[in-house]
Amino acid sequence: MPETGERASFNGKLGFIMATSASAVGLGNLWRFPYETSHYGGGIFVLVYIVLAFTFGVCLLLAELSFGRRTGKSCVAAFGEVSRKHRHIGYLAAVIPMLIVPYYCVIGGWVAKWLFESVAGNISGLAADGGAYWFDFISGETGAGFGGPTLWFLVFTVLCMACILAGVKNGIEKLSKVLMPALLVLMVGITAYELSIPGAWDGVVYYLNPDIGALSADTFLGAVSQIFYSLSIAMGIAITYGSYTKKDVNLEQSAGTVTLIDSGVAVLAGLMIVPVAFMFGFGDSNGMGLMFEALPQVFVSMPGGGIIGPVFYLLVLLAALTSAVSLAETCTSVFTDGAGMGRRKSMLATVAIILCLGMACVLGFGPLAVDIPMSQGAGWLGVFDTLANSILMPVIAILMCLFIGYVAKPEFLEEEIEISSRFRLKRVFRVMIMYVCPVLLTLMLVFGLGGVFGG
Ligand code: PHE
Repeated sequence: MPETGERASFNGKLGFIMATSASAVGLGNLWRFPYETSHYGGGIFVLVYIVLAFTFGVCLLLAELSFGRRTGKSCVAAFGEVSRKHRHIGYLAAVIPMLIVPYYCVIGGWVAKWLFESVAGNISGLAADGGAYWFDFISGETGAGFGGPTLWFLVFTVLCMACILAGVKNGIEKLSKVLMPALLVLMVGITAYELSIPGAWDGVVYYLNPDIGALSADTFLGAVSQIFYSLSIAMGIAITYGSYTKKDVNLEQSAGTVTLIDSGVAVLAGLMIVPVAFMFGFGDSNGMGLMFEALPQVFVSMPGGGIIGPVFYLLVLLAALTSAVSLAETCTSVFTDGAGMGRRKSMLATVAIILCLGMACVLGFGPLAVDIPMSQGAGWLGVFDTLANSILMPVIAILMCLFIGYVAKPEFLEEEIEISSRFRLKRVFRVMIMYVCPVLLTLMLVFGLGGVFGG
């Protein structure tokens, strides 16, 4: 993302698509999508995800991008620009990155730890006891208590803030544009190897063959939440991105391309992780640890795994870092734009939030344990994840649709989209934003939450 403060712009359509995809592709695709798929019964979740991504996801992404470009403002200011009375929607959206970035840094820390261990030649340790290493690590049994997950959380947080402070943010984004394709190539290679392991196909069938019987009300909420998280929408970020976009960029096409790239990476990550987890009998019981438990099993037996493993974790770390940097930047800009604070103070406030909530997540697997339905068995990390993704994001998305449909009016965005190209799906867009999205999202929220809280 260009520096906040001045209104810089992306270089052309490709630059815009690459930058938006680089922010979109992160732990959401590699870590969250596979375990959610496993949790919601495999193929059926993939199917629901794809259908909703290319209807709800793409529509909301287009709405946010065009809203940002039309107003030329970032999230907190954009709503107020159209109607002062509704500016609180922007503030509500701005809370979400603040809930996400702390636990994002915790997971980023896990990736850093896995990189460290694999570089140190300890892949077999990571794979030992059917992947029990992950659970022991997060609960503080490996890595000497406080020096374990806390240390790696701090390492990742420092890396993230250092990238912002050193002003190399643009540098690492450029780097990530080169490394992202490398990550993809590596993922294809790892997946191809896995498929050659006897027994892998049963896992692939579980992953790709939709079992209608596994469908429940919360599958839909799970899928839309995952789409919002992964596409970085319903949290104000795409609005800010839109405000950096030049007027000649075809927004309709770009929204489609970004959705395609992001979903493609997610589905590939699922193919790389879910069948292996299935094969090794992890099922959904291990939840959030799936990526950390399943892949070492592969690297340990793969020819060249001792090198491929560390390279893979390094690329994942960089993908996580670019996303974390853009999340932390967003929080900072909320304090500067929204609360009128100086840049230094804003950054300190962001760090304070990351440290407080992040430590709650780390300790939530040990001394600060909470076990309420919202925690999904993952303590405070689960609480923040559910609160941000399954409650606040759908609420923001509903409010945004109502705002665009009935306050700003769809023409407000349609005119903007038509500046650069003919808007082919204009009517569909209008129906989606005014009726389909708000109604169905409300139903998903109500019935889905029933599932989350009802167990
Ligand atoms: N979409 C990113 C991911 O999938 C997460 C993210 C959200 C990044 C918001 C930036 C902003 O990991």
